[in-house]
Amino acid sequence: MKHSSHTPFAIEARGLVKVFGDNRAVDGVDLHVPTGSIYGVLGPNGAGKTTTINMLATLLRPDSGTATIFGHDIQEEPQIVRQLIGVTGQYASVDENLSATENLIIFGRLLGLGRAEARQKAVDLLEEFGLSDAAKRPIAKYSGGMRRRLDLAVSLIAQPPLIFLDEPTTGLDPRTRTQMWATIRRLVASGSTILLTTQYLDEADQLADRIAVIDHGHVVAEGTPDELKASVGVAALNITLDHEKDITQAKAVIEAVLHTTVQSPAPRTLTAPMAKPDGVTDVLIELRKAHIGLDEISVQKPTLDEVFLALTGTPVKEGEQS
Ligand SMILES: Nc1ncnc2c1ncn2[C@@H]1O[C@H](COP(=O)(O)OP(=O)(O)OP(=O)(O)O)[C@@H](O)[C@H]1O
Ligand SMILES: [Mg+2]
Repeated sequence: MKHSSHTPFAIEARGLVKVFGDNRAVDGVDLHVPTGSIYGVLGPNGAGKTTTINMLATLLRPDSGTATIFGHDIQEEPQIVRQLIGVTGQYASVDENLSATENLIIFGRLLGLGRAEARQKAVDLLEEFGLSDAAKRPIAKYSGGMRRRLDLAVSLIAQPPLIFLDEPTTGLDPRTRTQMWATIRRLVASGSTILLTTQYLDEADQLADRIAVIDHGHVVAEGTPDELKASVGVAALNITLDHEKDITQAKAVIEAVLHTTVQSPAPRTLTAPMAKPDGVTDVLIELRKAHIGLDEISVQKPTLDEVFLALTGTPVKEGEQS
């Protein structure tokens, strides 16, 4: 497919805004996605990920801001932009009553493939996504994971230079997720650029060359996974005290040892980001010296909540999402 291959950025967006009523769903998003990379957009429910993709994919008109896809303006050259992109939505974009094979053939034909070519492509893609056994079954009888795989397969019929994947692995079992990651890597190896949204830090970490963390329509952090993790800490310490009365002292002790902000999500519980998991040793020694008894302790990878806490100073609020 023709596109200006000397454009270093597959996507350049400046100040994208989308307002729904009085909700600034996307509130000034800048993105620079290098050609040939996997770019992760990480954020909780309602952060504005899908809305941002919809604008970049010319499905939704921005209220303000500009963006180009391989140098082509999304508002001035939408037809060209559409030829350069593939979009895999959060929800299946296929006909429920038809089989997987029939769906893929129809999409292939719509994209200009010949009859035999479309059929062969369908067979190959179903094989690649482990759906051969279910090829003749109507989509209505597919599980959620099978639908996701078929959805991605559809977007790969004509492998476009830029592929938007909106939460491609949400709801998949671990094995299928790993398989999906391998497919995404293969797409990039064969020349595509990928923008993927996810709510999973580990997924962005595994796949993305760069990540934009988005919250309430804003990019709150941007960088390589290593840069982001360095700013957040690679581990999270969770401690439950024997006695609620010790909480203030324990918080002070941990803050002094780890040089970080300690949160108290529950009366006896403290959580803190750690640069290295072995920081826990010093914490335990100091708590013992202070005669503070511990009921439970664990060290975990930071959750998305903790990343947000570290990056934005505010936790992801439950219940305010769509
Ligand atoms: N068509 C619409 N009309 C009105 N409000 C909308 C519309 N689409 C999205 N919103 C609102 O805009 C905000 C951002 O939604 P968006 O779907 O972009 O978030 P998201 O990051 O994709 O979330 P999720 O992880 O749940 O998919 C939310 O508050 C949502 O309710
Ligand atoms: Mg979404």
